[in-house]
Amino acid sequence: AEPLKVALAGLGTVGGGVIRLLDANRALIERRAGRPIEIVAVSARDRNKDRGVDITRFQWVDDMTALAEIEGVDAVVELIGGSDGPALTLARKTLGAGKAFITANKAMIAHHGLSLAQVADAQDIPLKFEAAVAGGIPVIKGIREGAAANEITRVYGILNGTCNYILTTMEKDGRDFTEVLGEAQALGYAESDPSFDIDGVDAAHKLSILASLSFGSALTFDGVATTGIRNVIAADISEAQALGFRVRLVGLAEEGEAGLFQRVHPCLVPMSHPLAHVTGSLNAVVAEGNFVGRLFFQGAGAGDGPTASAVVADLIDVARNEYGPAFAMPVESLAHPERADSGER
Ligand code: NDP
Ligand code: HSE
Repeated sequence: AEPLKVALAGLGTVGGGVIRLLDANRALIERRAGRPIEIVAVSARDRNKDRGVDITRFQWVDDMTALAEIEGVDAVVELIGGSDGPALTLARKTLGAGKAFITANKAMIAHHGLSLAQVADAQDIPLKFEAAVAGGIPVIKGIREGAAANEITRVYGILNGTCNYILTTMEKDGRDFTEVLGEAQALGYAESDPSFDIDGVDAAHKLSILASLSFGSALTFDGVATTGIRNVIAADISEAQALGFRVRLVGLAEEGEAGLFQRVHPCLVPMSHPLAHVTGSLNAVVAEGNFVGRLFFQGAGAGDGPTASAVVADLIDVARNEYGPAFAMPVESLAHPERADSGER
């Protein structure tokens, strides 16, 4: 069968992981996808950087937004980051050229997901972003497909691996916030601007995407009340432990009579709740459906392998021609939610 030809923008933590995963599991992926998935062209900032993978076998493109225009390319994978700028230009050019677009960029999807979806859905081409929420956990698939028959009223969880790594490492050995953040950066968990992680913005991006998929509502990132973990000190964590709680950065979205409530903030989680036992860079998402009950998804929320796993799963769906509207229903039918006053909760 004809291969799915892919152009890859970004060869950092996740981009490198995608190349390694496609190399390691090539035969299995071909069987599952029904055809080979082949990277044919790549782009990043520095052509000569040692990335630990051989990129000389791919066509190199200096201007990564030109990847969309390469003849014969079926799908573009964007692993650069940034809500606007070159990533958004590439997204628009790719969809404009009628090609599939796959991204791990939650910032861009949270801000521009609906306008991109409009273009993709109108042409019936895939816009996929499994890796954008909770890294390797197939939570987008789980909610949009597994729980598709349910009315979901509440979705919440630990959505940032960097913060969870910092909080749980501080909890374990009482170490200093800044030192642990440096470790999370070295492990490839943090955003290029780590204030997005520690100020809760990254979790808010993900929460707004989850809320839209869960409730069939339009994305409202600006409606997420957000507080990060910058001011959490070791004493907060040990005091909480003494009282039978753990400190976790939790994102919660709920749809009630008052409207859509979306909030990210450090929470005291009782030891009896599964979120209290989510450690390191793991993420977890709970979704409550009216027929399925409480679903609990847990797994690696950041890092090269897990995130690449989600990106390649999207590519396999594209190769099989299995996809639907980007936000599970046509953009026009997404409800524009009344916003609840999140300060009152
Ligand atoms: P990295 O910083 O490791 O890699 C970014 C890549 O983009 C690098 O290869 C860099 O080039 C390239 N790049 C940056 N700016 C430009 C530009 N202007 N033009 C061309 N290339 C550019 O980031 P990650 O791999 O960690 O993250 C990529 C995306 O995946 C982000 O959207 C992030 O939010 C998302 N994500 C990351 C996860 C993680 O665990 N790391 C998990 C889930 C999502 P060069 O290498 O030459 O400098
Ligand atoms: N910086 C993000 C995190 C990467 O720490 O969760 C995964 O989205």
